Amino acid sequence: MITVRVPAKVNVQLGVGGLRADGFHDLANVFFAVALGDEVTASDSSEGITLSCSGPDADAVPLDDSNLAARAARLLAAHHGIADPGVHLHIAKAIPVAGGMAGGSADGAAALVACDALWKLDTPFETLLELAAELGSDVPFALLGGVALGRGRGEILEPLAAEGTFHWVFAVADGGLSTPAVFRECDRLRDEAGTGSADSDVPTPDADPALLAALADGDAVALAAALTNDLQTAALSLRPALAATLRAGTEAGALGALVSGSGPTCAFLAKDADGAAAVAAALRASGTCRTAHATYGPVPGAAVVA
Ligand code: C5P
Repeated sequence: MITVRVPAKVNVQLGVGGLRADGFHDLANVFFAVALGDEVTASDSSEGITLSCSGPDADAVPLDDSNLAARAARLLAAHHGIADPGVHLHIAKAIPVAGGMAGGSADGAAALVACDALWKLDTPFETLLELAAELGSDVPFALLGGVALGRGRGEILEPLAAEGTFHWVFAVADGGLSTPAVFRECDRLRDEAGTGSADSDVPTPDADPALLAALADGDAVALAAALTNDLQTAALSLRPALAATLRAGTEAGALGALVSGSGPTCAFLAKDADGAAAVAAALRASGTCRTAHATYGPVPGAAVVA
């Protein structure tokens, strides 16, 4: 039995370019891995690839072939020419489902690492990264962890320097948001504003030097000032109630606030661990979210723990 721990992500910068011909958007995506994470346990099975899930949101997790953990196991087996792969994958779910924190992608990355160990395949890390990119734009980062700039559709990664520990709070909403729907809303709002949404209309986004310096310096105040998410307007358009969540966390003393990825989870940067605990408590009491978790990062990517 192999257990892999895998982090969720928040995008401290999500710069979104125009819509490409392949249906994706070019990004300048600064990923940040946080300790809030899932655990995926792989064990031998003679019944093909099967899944189970536990945790407060387990009912919202699909246990069929659409689950990225199952797709990851199948992809790894196919890469190695394993004709009849057998594994049971149990997902202990803590990352909000469809929450903009790459929880499904995290489980895909964890399943790659867990099956690689269970089946004693010793797949090179570079190959795992390539397989991860086939599974989804956010899966490679869940393998890498830490802080990284994602270019292309987010899958071309460059590790970034980050000093010390940053303290975060995540406010979990009722219900998720569909990532493609949020990207579509972003395009619609750009068209409506008259700026256009195509590749040729929108300048290619770039990483913000002030944000990179704040990460490298371990400066939470400077990072808070530089947080940006080009999908935030679209997420707020689809879920206007998130404005109250962002306000509640800011009023509770957060240094900075933004929607995490495509949302609806909201992320708050705090001064220190005590500050994060206070912001989380205030958010839970505010009635503007289902629950709130204090956590920290950066932390490593998917790794075997047992
Ligand atoms: O890569 P992934 O399967 O996670 O992407 C899900 C959907 O999100 C894509 O089908 C696309 O609609 C949208 N997306 C995008 N641009 C990106 C990443 C995702 O438009 N860079």
